[in-house]
Amino acid sequence: MQQTILKTINDLNKWKKNIENINFVPTMGNLHKGHLELIQQSYKDGSNETLVSIFINPLQFNDKKDFKNYPKTIGKDIKLAFSSGANAIFLPSENEILNIKSLIYQKACKKLSSNLCGKSREGHFDGVCTIVLRMLKIINPKKIFLGEKDWQQLIILKNMIKELNLKVEVKSITTQRDADGVPYSSRNNLLTTSERKDLQFFSEELKKAKKSFTVNKAINLKEINKSFETKNLKIEYLQHLSAFSLNESIDKENITILAGAMLCGSTRLIDHVFLMKRKPIIAIDGPAGSGKSTVTKLIAKKLDFIYLDTGAMYRALSWFLIDQKINYKNVNILQECLKELNIVFKTNLNSDQDIFINNICVTDKIRSQKISSIVSSFASISKVREFLVKEQRKIGDKGGLVAEGRDIGTTVFPKAEIKIYLTASIYERAKRRKIELEQQGQEINFNKLKDQIKQRDLDDSTRNISPLVKAEDAIEIITDNHTADQIADKIIQIFYEKLPKEIKNDF
Ligand code: CDP
Repeated sequence: MQQTILKTINDLNKWKKNIENINFVPTMGNLHKGHLELIQQSYKDGSNETLVSIFINPLQFNDKKDFKNYPKTIGKDIKLAFSSGANAIFLPSENEILNIKSLIYQKACKKLSSNLCGKSREGHFDGVCTIVLRMLKIINPKKIFLGEKDWQQLIILKNMIKELNLKVEVKSITTQRDADGVPYSSRNNLLTTSERKDLQFFSEELKKAKKSFTVNKAINLKEINKSFETKNLKIEYLQHLSAFSLNESIDKENITILAGAMLCGSTRLIDHVFLMKRKPIIAIDGPAGSGKSTVTKLIAKKLDFIYLDTGAMYRALSWFLIDQKINYKNVNILQECLKELNIVFKTNLNSDQDIFINNICVTDKIRSQKISSIVSSFASISKVREFLVKEQRKIGDKGGLVAEGRDIGTTVFPKAEIKIYLTASIYERAKRRKIELEQQGQEINFNKLKDQIKQRDLDDSTRNISPLVKAEDAIEIITDNHTADQIADKIIQIFYEKLPKEIKNDF
């Protein structure tokens, strides 16, 4: 493998000419196991070439002394980066990167940079964004690899990439820790033995807080701070925030971060833990025939999550109201009926799910053309929706669930970790539904089926309560010309990319 050192942008451009795709690992040098893991992940990632940059960014230091003292070990770094899989190392001078008239001073998102390190390090994240943006423009990589140890930085950079619509995929790796539990950091080299012990204590207390959170679902910042006082630790901040929006209102948040910074002598170090109240939820919405059921079932199987088909619940209830000749138009009668109603899913011998309503198995009955043509009108009754949404939330109470429907991301689980809006062309959706019905022995004219689906789309998306709409934060996936397996894998990839890797062990 050819190993190249690039000192100027000119060198870089020449090297790029023969390269198709670049994986970019930005660093400030003094490489440790955390950096090496990033390089190795990039190397393992596929056929892309790995470019590691080593550049100490002066714009992200608000303390000149800190900048001057930042450890520099270039010779060692080059050897380590190459032996971990780097194809090229970019070592630009400050002049090369900063001394241009057209340098874009990129501001970090205010909301994301107002807490944690942003509070005490004024301008720090603006400096990070400015340089990473500059590097991305020069390098134009396919992927950028970043560590989750600097979680706030990762969230800010992901936000910048999204806002500026940059075509680069962000890959992140979990915090790498030394044998004593301390996260690797270039600044660790500056610590004395006793400072290192203090840092170890700090990390252990965060871990302890995480452990007690699993039992009482609460964090007592005062108590943790008290334990720091007993050791005379100089804490710069300790905050418990929402893991993604980094704000302080966490009551309704599932995944949160407990993060702190401490001063060991004159060295400032950070650490954090992620906390989770319940296991994650994946919400999948979309119109009829978009592939929701097949994809959702596959995801549930691959992740060992509960599969929740909310449409089957609306169908079952519609069937019941008709079969039992309930005068559902009378609100009191409907309400009395709902009080006595019991809908459960049970796994059958084929490892599929059967649905029971008041102990009657209705799995096949609810798939008839008759039910398909009336279900949307039942689904627009507010008492029906109230009742079923409550039941669905009960099923999802502990998380570890992938649910499909029309209002999952907007109403049932608005705090779902990821929201997907699946769709496909009307032709494709009708084609799929026709095959499905034929397999069940039902014959139907293609155009009639297409019209029926169109009508249902219209009814579902124009009703007053919880209409079918794409949630603001949902990712739209068009499933035409893709297999269900491909779509399921893509959603699982999006899911894992969104979550901090560290909490994978918690579910
Ligand atoms: O499988 P298909 O796409 O035909 O629909 P389904 O998931 O079985 O849902 C049947 C109907 O139930 C939908 O057309 C909606 O009217 C209603 N529904 C809803 O209103 N809200 C949900 N969360 C799920 C289904």
